[in-house]
Amino acid sequence: MATRDPANGAATRDLRLGLLGAGIGHSRSPHLHRAALQTLGRKGTYELFEAESEAQAQAVVQRLRAGELDGLNVTTPWKPWAAAQCAFGLDAVGRVLPGPPDRPVNTLAMRDGQLCGGSTDGPGLLDALAAADVDLRGARVLLLGAGGAGAAVAPELLAAGAAGLWVANRAQDRAQALVVHLSRIGPGVEVRVLPWGQRVPDLTIDGVVHATRFGHGEGQPYDRADVVAWDWLPWSAWRGRGTVVADLVYGASPTRFQALALAHGIPAGRQLLGDEAQVAPRGVLLGSGEAMLAAQAARVWRLWTGDLVDWRELKTALRTRDGR
Ligand SMILES: NC(=O)c1ccc[n+]([C@@H]2O[C@H](COP(=O)([O-])OP(=O)(O)OC[C@H]3O[C@@H](n4cnc5c(N)ncnc54)[C@H](OP(=O)(O)O)[C@@H]3O)[C@@H](O)[C@H]2O)c1
Repeated sequence: MATRDPANGAATRDLRLGLLGAGIGHSRSPHLHRAALQTLGRKGTYELFEAESEAQAQAVVQRLRAGELDGLNVTTPWKPWAAAQCAFGLDAVGRVLPGPPDRPVNTLAMRDGQLCGGSTDGPGLLDALAAADVDLRGARVLLLGAGGAGAAVAPELLAAGAAGLWVANRAQDRAQALVVHLSRIGPGVEVRVLPWGQRVPDLTIDGVVHATRFGHGEGQPYDRADVVAWDWLPWSAWRGRGTVVADLVYGASPTRFQALALAHGIPAGRQLLGDEAQVAPRGVLLGSGEAMLAAQAARVWRLWTGDLVDWRELKTALRTRDGR
């Protein structure tokens, strides 16, 4: 089911949409957004815009500014850059915020002649967690990865009520910068850097959110050698405590990170992608990346046209593996 938000005065003409990024040949966004067009009964096109240089990225954004495009998605490596191009941020329902975006953006749209951007990654992750009945209120969360996606979801984890957030990133200055930013926007919440690769004897947490590129674009979910690389994490402390393991990465289920969690004795939790009977909500949330992908894509339409799209309908599009 999809409904249109009349307040946003969605255009009725054919839409010209696309994704700006580098190395995006594998992207499933076209498939998701074509499915959304179909469920909305709209006509339009969704193209991939490969940009290796800033000049190329700028040329694509210029097409949006000039009205040749109606909306853009943005992915690696252009999310922080795209945020810096925007005059104003957009909130989760597409309202224009008073200042520029305060985080990397995955969605660009024009409002009154001004380039505006928002991120649906965080809300999309929260949708996926909510589907597994994960309540973040008072939760202590470890975020692995402070790249574009990590930086985008972190504020939402705090907004959803997380009481503590540890951020670990291979490049520690990135983790540090994110923690400083989060401390400004969410004072009163315990936000700390967890040094990358340094063995942690114990860290009692309720959930791990994996947001590095480990496992990205790989069909094979598990390689024994990777156990060594992630041995510094206190897996045994999480075993039997109902720790939730969500992964932003999609493409294989379990993902490589989730396969490690399973290998370390964390039980399988909810399967978010299929219609399978629900099992225990805690543990490794299989299909979390796909569920988030569908949810963030559905939410993009609030920012582009005001349309409401049910993300569960888009999950079906993800099951067609050749429909990328
Ligand atoms: N499901 C969804 O809807 C969704 C949405 C957004 C992103 N994602 C996925 O999330 C992942 C991250 O995306 P992103 O946009 O944040 O990418 P990004 O901006 O390029 O950041 C990459 C992250 O991965 C880390 N990393 C890369 N190679 C590493 C290595 N060999 N060892 C350890 N860490 C490494 C980086 O650490 P350094 O800073 O040290 O380089 C950084 O934290 C991708 O797989 C992406 O597809 C999924």
